[in-house]
Amino acid sequence: MEKILDVKNLQVSFQTFFGEVEAVRDISFSLEEGKTLAIVGESGCGKSVTANSIMQLLPKPPVVYKGGEIIYKGEDLLKKSEKEMTEIRGNMISMVFQDPMTSLNPTMKVGAQIIEGVRRHRNISNEEGRKYAIEMLERVSVPQPEKRVNQYPHEFSGGMRQRVMIALAMASKPSLLIADEPTTALDVTVQAQILKLMKTLQKEFGASIILITHDLGVVADMADDVIVMYAGQIVEKGTVDDIFKNPSHPYTQKLLAAVPKLTMDRNETLHAIDGTPPDLYKPPQGCAFFDRCDQAMVICENHMPGFFDSGSGHYNRCWKNHPSYTRNGGAE
Ligand SMILES: Nc1ncnc2c1ncn2[C@@H]1O[C@H](COP(=O)(O)OP(=O)(O)OP(=O)(O)O)[C@@H](O)[C@H]1O
Ligand SMILES: [Mg+2]
Repeated sequence: MEKILDVKNLQVSFQTFFGEVEAVRDISFSLEEGKTLAIVGESGCGKSVTANSIMQLLPKPPVVYKGGEIIYKGEDLLKKSEKEMTEIRGNMISMVFQDPMTSLNPTMKVGAQIIEGVRRHRNISNEEGRKYAIEMLERVSVPQPEKRVNQYPHEFSGGMRQRVMIALAMASKPSLLIADEPTTALDVTVQAQILKLMKTLQKEFGASIILITHDLGVVADMADDVIVMYAGQIVEKGTVDDIFKNPSHPYTQKLLAAVPKLTMDRNETLHAIDGTPPDLYKPPQGCAFFDRCDQAMVICENHMPGFFDSGSGHYNRCWKNHPSYTRNGGAE
Protein backbone atom coordinates (compact mmCIF):
# COMPACT_ATOMS: atom_id res chain seq x y z
CA MET A 1 0.00 0.00 0.00
CA GLU A 2 1.12 3.55 -0.79
CA LYS A 3 2.55 5.72 2.00
CA ILE A 4 0.76 9.01 2.26
CA LEU A 5 2.96 10.41 5.01
CA ASP A 6 6.52 9.61 5.95
CA VAL A 7 8.00 11.45 8.91
CA LYS A 8 11.74 10.93 9.13
CA ASN A 9 13.93 11.85 12.11
CA LEU A 10 11.82 14.88 13.01
CA GLN A 11 13.30 17.14 15.69
CA VAL A 12 11.32 20.13 16.94
CA SER A 13 12.42 22.56 19.65
CA PHE A 14 11.06 25.72 21.25
CA GLN A 15 13.62 28.47 21.82
CA THR A 16 12.45 30.09 25.02
CA PHE A 17 13.77 32.70 27.40
CA PHE A 18 14.93 29.92 29.72
CA GLY A 19 16.55 27.82 27.03
CA GLU A 20 15.69 25.21 24.45
CA VAL A 21 12.73 22.86 25.01
CA GLU A 22 13.31 19.70 23.00
CA ALA A 23 9.66 18.91 22.41
CA VAL A 24 10.07 16.31 19.66
CA ARG A 25 13.29 14.35 19.65
CA ASP A 26 14.05 12.45 16.48
CA ILE A 27 10.84 10.65 15.65
CA SER A 28 10.10 8.61 12.52
CA PHE A 29 6.83 7.03 11.46
CA SER A 30 4.73 6.58 8.37
CA LEU A 31 1.08 6.31 7.48
CA GLU A 32 -0.43 4.28 4.66
CA GLU A 33 -3.31 5.42 2.52
CA GLY A 34 -6.73 4.86 4.10
CA LYS A 35 -5.27 3.77 7.46
CA THR A 36 -5.65 5.21 10.95
CA LEU A 37 -2.59 5.84 13.08
CA ALA A 38 -3.06 6.63 16.75
CA ILE A 39 -0.57 8.67 18.76
CA VAL A 40 -0.78 8.04 22.50
CA GLY A 41 1.17 9.14 25.54
CA GLU A 42 0.96 11.30 28.64
CA SER A 43 0.43 15.03 28.62
CA GLY A 44 3.44 16.97 27.33
CA CYS A 45 5.05 14.08 25.44
CA GLY A 46 4.94 15.88 22.08
CA LYS A 47 1.74 14.64 20.40
CA SER A 48 0.33 18.07 19.51
CA VAL A 49 3.73 19.44 18.50
CA THR A 50 4.03 16.50 16.09
CA ALA A 51 0.55 17.11 14.64
CA ASN A 52 1.03 20.87 14.38
CA SER A 53 4.41 20.34 12.73
CA ILE A 54 2.77 18.32 9.96
CA MET A 55 0.30 21.15 9.46
CA GLN A 56 3.10 23.73 9.85
CA LEU A 57 0.96 25.61 12.35
CA LEU A 58 3.68 26.44 14.87
CA PRO A 59 5.15 29.94 14.80
CA LYS A 60 8.86 30.16 13.92
CA PRO A 61 10.24 31.46 16.28
CA PRO A 62 9.88 30.17 18.95
CA VAL A 63 9.75 26.87 17.07
CA VAL A 64 12.84 25.59 15.30
CA TYR A 65 12.91 22.51 13.11
CA LYS A 66 16.27 21.10 14.03
CA GLY A 67 16.19 18.21 11.64
CA GLY A 68 14.20 15.68 9.72
CA GLU A 69 11.64 15.59 6.97
CA ILE A 70 7.84 15.39 6.74
CA ILE A 71 7.20 13.76 3.39
CA TYR A 72 3.59 14.08 2.25
CA LYS A 73 2.86 12.51 -1.13
CA GLY A 74 6.55 12.56 -1.98
CA GLU A 75 7.26 16.19 -0.98
CA ASP A 76 8.82 17.61 2.17
CA LEU A 77 6.33 19.87 3.98
CA LEU A 78 9.17 21.47 5.94
CA LYS A 79 10.42 22.96 2.67
CA LYS A 80 7.07 24.46 1.63
CA SER A 81 6.41 28.19 1.70
CA GLU A 82 3.51 29.56 3.78
CA LYS A 83 1.59 30.12 0.54
CA GLU A 84 2.04 26.49 -0.51
CA MET A 85 1.08 25.30 2.99
CA THR A 86 -2.12 27.38 2.91
CA GLU A 87 -3.00 25.55 -0.28
CA ILE A 88 -2.31 22.16 1.34
CA ARG A 89 -4.11 22.94 4.62
CA GLY A 90 -7.81 22.58 4.39
CA ASN A 91 -7.49 21.15 0.91
CA MET A 92 -5.36 18.04 1.23
CA ILE A 93 -4.66 17.91 4.97
CA SER A 94 -7.29 19.00 7.52
CA MET A 95 -7.19 19.17 11.27
CA VAL A 96 -9.80 18.69 13.97
CA PHE A 97 -9.00 20.09 17.41
CA GLN A 98 -10.24 19.31 20.90
CA ASP A 99 -11.86 22.71 21.14
CA PRO A 100 -13.94 23.42 18.02
CA MET A 101 -13.87 27.14 18.79
CA THR A 102 -10.18 27.20 17.83
CA SER A 103 -11.03 26.37 14.22
CA LEU A 104 -14.55 27.78 13.89
CA ASN A 105 -14.97 31.51 13.37
CA PRO A 106 -17.45 32.73 16.04
CA THR A 107 -18.48 35.70 13.90
CA MET A 108 -19.46 33.72 10.81
CA LYS A 109 -22.43 31.47 10.07
CA VAL A 110 -21.34 27.83 9.87
CA GLY A 111 -22.62 27.43 6.30
CA ALA A 112 -20.56 30.39 5.16
CA GLN A 113 -17.48 28.87 6.80
CA ILE A 114 -17.93 25.57 4.99
CA ILE A 115 -18.51 27.40 1.68
CA GLU A 116 -15.48 29.63 2.23
CA GLY A 117 -13.29 26.57 2.85
CA VAL A 118 -14.43 24.89 -0.36
CA ARG A 119 -14.25 28.14 -2.38
CA ARG A 120 -10.58 28.51 -1.61
CA HIS A 121 -9.99 25.54 -3.88
CA ARG A 122 -13.01 25.25 -6.12
CA ASN A 123 -15.09 27.77 -7.99
CA ILE A 124 -18.72 27.31 -6.96
CA SER A 125 -21.76 29.58 -7.06
CA ASN A 126 -23.52 30.78 -3.89
CA GLU A 127 -26.39 28.38 -4.48
CA GLU A 128 -24.09 25.39 -5.11
CA GLY A 129 -22.10 26.35 -2.02
CA ARG A 130 -25.21 26.49 0.16
CA LYS A 131 -26.37 23.12 -1.11
CA TYR A 132 -22.97 21.61 -0.44
CA ALA A 133 -22.82 23.07 3.09
CA ILE A 134 -26.26 21.60 3.84
CA GLU A 135 -25.17 18.24 2.41
CA MET A 136 -22.03 18.26 4.59
CA LEU A 137 -24.06 19.10 7.72
CA GLU A 138 -26.43 16.29 6.82
CA ARG A 139 -23.49 13.89 6.40
CA VAL A 140 -22.30 14.64 9.92
CA SER A 141 -25.87 14.13 11.21
CA VAL A 142 -26.64 17.70 12.24
CA PRO A 143 -30.45 17.78 12.47
CA GLN A 144 -32.35 20.37 10.41
CA PRO A 145 -29.34 21.27 8.27
CA GLU A 146 -31.32 23.81 6.16
CA LYS A 147 -31.93 25.85 9.31
CA ARG A 148 -28.59 25.13 10.99
CA VAL A 149 -26.57 26.27 7.98
CA ASN A 150 -27.56 29.85 8.82
CA GLN A 151 -26.59 29.70 12.48
CA TYR A 152 -23.45 30.78 14.31
CA PRO A 153 -21.14 28.35 16.19
CA HIS A 154 -22.36 29.54 19.62
CA GLU A 155 -25.87 28.33 18.72
CA PHE A 156 -24.63 24.73 18.67
CA SER A 157 -24.01 22.40 21.63
CA GLY A 158 -20.46 21.06 22.20
CA GLY A 159 -21.11 17.78 20.39
CA MET A 160 -22.86 19.50 17.49
CA ARG A 161 -20.01 22.02 17.18
CA GLN A 162 -17.59 19.12 16.97
CA ARG A 163 -19.70 17.70 14.12
CA VAL A 164 -19.64 21.06 12.36
CA MET A 165 -15.86 21.15 12.70
CA ILE A 166 -15.63 17.68 11.18
CA ALA A 167 -17.92 18.80 8.34
CA LEU A 168 -15.64 21.78 7.80
CA ALA A 169 -12.53 19.60 7.88
CA MET A 170 -13.98 17.03 5.47
CA ALA A 171 -15.65 19.53 3.10
CA SER A 172 -12.61 19.75 0.86
CA LYS A 173 -12.25 15.93 0.87
CA PRO A 174 -8.76 15.88 2.36
CA SER A 175 -6.55 12.84 1.92
CA LEU A 176 -5.23 13.23 5.48
CA LEU A 177 -7.23 14.15 8.56
CA ILE A 178 -5.38 14.92 11.77
CA ALA A 179 -7.59 14.78 14.85
CA ASP A 180 -6.01 16.06 18.08
CA GLU A 181 -8.10 14.84 21.02
CA PRO A 182 -11.29 15.30 18.99
CA THR A 183 -13.62 13.86 21.60
CA THR A 184 -11.91 14.44 24.94
CA ALA A 185 -14.30 17.24 25.95
CA LEU A 186 -17.45 15.29 25.03
CA ASP A 187 -19.53 12.82 26.99
CA VAL A 188 -19.11 9.15 26.08
CA THR A 189 -22.26 8.78 23.97
CA VAL A 190 -21.45 11.79 21.84
CA GLN A 191 -17.83 10.63 21.70
CA ALA A 192 -18.92 7.29 20.27
CA GLN A 193 -21.11 9.01 17.67
CA ILE A 194 -18.31 11.35 16.55
CA LEU A 195 -15.80 8.50 16.26
CA LYS A 196 -18.26 6.43 14.26
CA LEU A 197 -18.81 9.40 12.03
CA MET A 198 -15.08 9.82 11.44
CA LYS A 199 -14.84 6.15 10.49
CA THR A 200 -17.75 6.43 8.04
CA LEU A 201 -16.31 9.55 6.43
CA GLN A 202 -12.92 7.87 6.22
CA LYS A 203 -14.46 4.98 4.27
CA GLU A 204 -16.44 7.33 2.06
CA PHE A 205 -13.58 9.68 1.22
CA GLY A 206 -10.72 7.18 1.52
CA ALA A 207 -8.88 9.52 3.90
CA SER A 208 -6.03 8.52 6.17
CA ILE A 209 -6.33 9.58 9.81
CA ILE A 210 -3.87 10.51 12.53
CA LEU A 211 -5.73 10.28 15.80
CA ILE A 212 -4.25 11.75 18.94
CA THR A 213 -5.88 10.58 22.12
CA HIS A 214 -5.35 9.78 25.78
CA ASP A 215 -8.04 7.17 25.58
CA LEU A 216 -6.74 3.67 24.87
CA GLY A 217 -10.29 2.40 24.40
CA VAL A 218 -10.64 4.76 21.45
CA VAL A 219 -7.32 3.53 20.07
CA ALA A 220 -8.41 -0.11 20.23
CA ASP A 221 -11.60 0.82 18.40
CA MET A 222 -10.27 3.09 15.72
CA ALA A 223 -6.60 2.54 14.95
CA ASP A 224 -4.71 0.21 12.62
CA ASP A 225 -1.31 1.28 13.91
CA VAL A 226 -0.15 2.94 17.10
CA ILE A 227 2.81 5.00 18.18
CA VAL A 228 3.48 5.48 21.85
CA MET A 229 5.30 8.72 22.70
CA TYR A 230 7.20 9.57 25.84
CA ALA A 231 9.27 12.71 26.51
CA GLY A 232 9.34 13.72 22.85
CA GLN A 233 10.37 10.31 21.56
CA ILE A 234 8.59 7.29 20.17
CA VAL A 235 9.14 4.45 22.63
CA GLU A 236 7.06 1.83 20.84
CA LYS A 237 5.29 1.45 17.53
CA GLY A 238 3.38 -1.36 15.95
CA THR A 239 -0.04 -2.54 14.89
CA VAL A 240 -2.92 -2.15 17.30
CA ASP A 241 -2.65 -5.90 18.02
CA ASP A 242 1.10 -5.64 18.73
CA ILE A 243 0.55 -2.84 21.21
CA PHE A 244 -2.45 -4.30 23.04
CA LYS A 245 -1.59 -8.00 22.99
CA ASN A 246 2.15 -7.80 23.24
CA PRO A 247 3.29 -4.43 24.61
CA SER A 248 7.07 -4.55 24.87
CA HIS A 249 8.08 -1.22 26.38
CA PRO A 250 7.56 -0.88 30.15
CA TYR A 251 5.88 2.50 29.56
CA THR A 252 3.31 0.99 27.19
CA GLN A 253 2.75 -1.85 29.68
CA LYS A 254 2.10 0.70 32.43
CA LEU A 255 -0.23 2.78 30.24
CA LEU A 256 -2.28 -0.34 29.54
CA ALA A 257 -2.28 -1.39 33.20
CA ALA A 258 -3.64 2.05 34.12
CA VAL A 259 -6.83 1.50 32.11
CA PRO A 260 -9.81 0.57 34.32
CA LYS A 261 -11.37 -2.80 33.50
CA LEU A 262 -14.96 -3.93 33.82
CA THR A 263 -13.81 -7.12 35.50
CA MET A 264 -12.03 -5.22 38.26
CA ASP A 265 -12.76 -6.04 41.83
CA ARG A 266 -14.20 -3.23 44.00
CA ASN A 267 -11.11 -3.31 46.21
CA GLU A 268 -8.65 -3.42 43.36
CA THR A 269 -6.75 -0.19 42.83
CA LEU A 270 -5.83 1.28 39.48
CA HIS A 271 -2.18 1.08 38.53
CA ALA A 272 -1.30 4.74 38.15
CA ILE A 273 2.18 5.48 36.80
CA ASP A 274 4.13 7.05 39.65
CA GLY A 275 6.21 10.15 39.01
CA THR A 276 6.15 12.58 36.13
CA PRO A 277 7.81 12.72 32.72
CA PRO A 278 11.20 14.48 32.60
CA ASP A 279 11.65 18.14 31.84
CA LEU A 280 12.35 18.66 28.16
CA TYR A 281 14.64 21.63 28.85
CA LYS A 282 17.32 19.13 29.64
CA PRO A 283 16.11 15.71 28.56
CA PRO A 284 17.93 12.81 30.19
CA GLN A 285 20.93 11.31 28.46
CA GLY A 286 19.72 7.75 28.86
CA CYS A 287 16.24 6.25 28.68
CA ALA A 288 13.72 9.01 29.48
CA PHE A 289 11.53 6.54 31.41
CA PHE A 290 14.43 5.38 33.62
CA ASP A 291 13.34 6.96 36.91
CA ARG A 292 9.76 5.66 36.64
CA CYS A 293 10.58 2.21 35.35
CA ASP A 294 10.46 -0.77 37.69
CA GLN A 295 12.42 -2.88 35.23
CA ALA A 296 15.30 -0.39 34.82
CA MET A 297 18.87 -1.64 34.60
CA VAL A 298 22.21 0.11 35.12
CA ILE A 299 22.67 0.74 31.40
CA CYS A 300 19.35 2.60 31.15
CA GLU A 301 20.39 5.61 33.21
CA ASN A 302 23.05 7.02 30.90
CA HIS A 303 22.64 5.23 27.61
CA MET A 304 19.77 5.87 25.28
CA PRO A 305 18.40 2.65 23.83
CA GLY A 306 17.99 2.50 20.05
CA PHE A 307 15.05 0.83 18.33
CA PHE A 308 14.72 -2.92 18.63
CA ASP A 309 12.43 -4.85 16.33
CA SER A 310 10.48 -7.46 18.25
CA GLY A 311 9.01 -8.78 15.02
CA SER A 312 7.70 -7.54 11.67
CA GLY A 313 7.59 -3.81 12.25
CA HIS A 314 6.85 -3.89 15.99
CA TYR A 315 9.55 -1.59 17.36
CA ASN A 316 10.41 -0.51 20.85
CA ARG A 317 13.09 1.48 22.61
CA CYS A 318 13.98 -0.60 25.69
CA TRP A 319 17.32 -2.20 26.55
CA LYS A 320 15.44 -5.22 27.87
CA ASN A 321 14.58 -6.05 24.28
CA HIS A 322 18.17 -5.84 23.02
CA PRO A 323 19.00 -9.13 21.25
CA SER A 324 21.83 -9.81 23.74
CA TYR A 325 19.74 -9.16 26.83
CA THR A 326 19.51 -12.14 29.12
CA ARG A 327 17.21 -12.20 32.11
CA ASN A 328 19.93 -12.77 34.66
CA GLY A 329 22.73 -10.81 33.04
CA GLY A 330 21.06 -7.73 31.61
CA ALA A 331 22.10 -6.27 28.27
CA GLU A 332 25.65 -7.17 27.44
N1 LIG B 1 4.94 27.44 23.14
C1 LIG B 1 5.71 26.59 23.81
N2 LIG B 1 6.85 27.00 24.43
C2 LIG B 1 7.65 26.16 25.09
N3 LIG B 1 7.40 24.83 25.20
C3 LIG B 1 6.30 24.36 24.64
C4 LIG B 1 5.37 25.19 23.91
N4 LIG B 1 4.35 24.43 23.46
C5 LIG B 1 4.62 23.17 23.87
N5 LIG B 1 5.78 23.13 24.57
C6 LIG B 1 6.40 21.95 25.19
O1 LIG B 1 6.49 20.93 24.23
C7 LIG B 1 6.28 19.67 24.82
C8 LIG B 1 5.26 18.89 24.02
O2 LIG B 1 4.01 19.52 24.10
P1 LIG B 1 2.70 18.98 23.37
O3 LIG B 1 1.73 20.08 23.38
O4 LIG B 1 3.08 18.40 22.05
O5 LIG B 1 2.24 17.82 24.34
P2 LIG B 1 1.01 16.81 24.17
O6 LIG B 1 1.58 15.44 24.10
O7 LIG B 1 0.15 17.25 23.05
O8 LIG B 1 0.27 16.97 25.57
P3 LIG B 1 -1.31 17.03 25.91
O9 LIG B 1 -1.72 15.59 26.01
O10 LIG B 1 -1.36 17.72 27.22
O11 LIG B 1 -2.01 17.77 24.82
C9 LIG B 1 5.86 19.92 26.26
O12 LIG B 1 6.97 19.65 27.08
C10 LIG B 1 5.51 21.38 26.29
O13 LIG B 1 5.84 21.94 27.53
MG1 LIG C 1 -1.79 18.02 22.94
